Amino acid sequence: MAKMWAGRFSKEVDESVNAFNSSISFDGRMFAHDIKGSIAHATMLGECGIITKEDSLQIIDGLKDILKDIQNGTLQLDMSAEDIHMFIEAELTKRLGDVGKRLHTSRSRNDQVALDIRLYLRDEITQISKLLQELVSTLCDIAEQHIETVMPGYTHLQRAQPITFGHHLMAYAQMFLRDIDRLNDTYKRMNYCPLGSGALAGTTYNIDRQMTSDLLGFTAPMQNSLDGVSDRDSCIELANTIAMIMMHLSRISEEVIMWCSWEFKFVELDDAYSTGSSIMPQKKNPDITELIRGKAGRTTGNLVTLLSMMKGLPLAYNKDMQEDKEAIFDSVDNVKLCLSTFIPMLKTMRVIKENMRKASAKGFINATDCADYLVKKGLPFRDAYKITGRLVAICIEKDLTLETLPIEQYKELSETFDTDVYNAISLDTCINQRTSFGGPAPSEVKRQIEVTRNALKG
Ligand code: ARG
Repeated sequence: MAKMWAGRFSKEVDESVNAFNSSISFDGRMFAHDIKGSIAHATMLGECGIITKEDSLQIIDGLKDILKDIQNGTLQLDMSAEDIHMFIEAELTKRLGDVGKRLHTSRSRNDQVALDIRLYLRDEITQISKLLQELVSTLCDIAEQHIETVMPGYTHLQRAQPITFGHHLMAYAQMFLRDIDRLNDTYKRMNYCPLGSGALAGTTYNIDRQMTSDLLGFTAPMQNSLDGVSDRDSCIELANTIAMIMMHLSRISEEVIMWCSWEFKFVELDDAYSTGSSIMPQKKNPDITELIRGKAGRTTGNLVTLLSMMKGLPLAYNKDMQEDKEAIFDSVDNVKLCLSTFIPMLKTMRVIKENMRKASAKGFINATDCADYLVKKGLPFRDAYKITGRLVAICIEKDLTLETLPIEQYKELSETFDTDVYNAISLDTCINQRTSFGGPAPSEVKRQIEVTRNALKG
């Protein structure tokens, strides 16, 4: 395809440079957004009398036809074009002749690409947010069925204190709820219109930036034309938000992987969401969650790519910025892919309550409650802590648990103990009494679920 800017040059650009320079293979996906932006621009040019109304209408119709033709496959993107902007403009000119050549009046590809990426990512944010809402709502539903399902809570991956599966899942619901909030925030700051910034220094035409901003549903035009073309904060913010979503997804995935192992066996994935081994017939592998954990790494990488790409760039546009797209598109594609696979996997996952309870009965996760029993009977916490520590040591030596240790043994260490200690350290008591705000008591988790569901309603 002949270069739009061939006039200044005395030679054709080398083929290898063309291929190196071209971005249509990855920015082609923004064709609908590019056309949407161009329609708004052409409308404004017509309204402001910069081009005639007839030309404006013809351009708009031509752009709509191109959109239809790309969508129904009659028009294929030409991979030898420099980018999607050049391709659509060239196609328009092919169809409309001189009229098509008027579209780019008072516009540069610099403000055009800055606009397209915002329009494109705005739509993606909406989709990611919907998926996250579904995930949070799924977590609430599963948590509701398990507000009494006792499981060990861990620190250092050592059994620590009793919690419930519902309580555990609601922790993740909070993380993903914050992610939704971060997405909203990212959208809010992204939603300013760079169109009309020109190449960098605005334009001498009497354009109406407010009009294009309104037509495209932005909050307002961006204030400074240099910033308009050289800002990629919105890509970086979104890459960060996605990296955080993926980090959260990766953490829950890691837990699912552990819970699936025979060492835990707290859950079993549905056959439709697990995979087998080519050699070991007994295997049922949690590949989905492992892939998510793996992909979290590349979304972190994409964030670092964008930050590193931007940090040394002088104002205004530099071609380095073309590198923004592959990184942010990769993050967007992968987070959507992960969420839409993870949600049904979670919905069909079987929870093996008995194994959670069995694991809770071991590991002395009620030791804090035993110490608290003494404290409630008047002992200072540090003394109670020491006595309980010795009790645990005796249990380990005799291969007993705090529940099965005879009362005489308790009394040997402190006369304060009585038979009511067994009730105080029973797992159900331990859970039911942890009613502090945010804690695992069923009444408390119910409250958390309700608050979370209300937050989802907005
Ligand atoms: N394909 C380019 C990009 O993605 C479009 C902007 C080109 N601007 C320029 N001055 N060469 O950044």
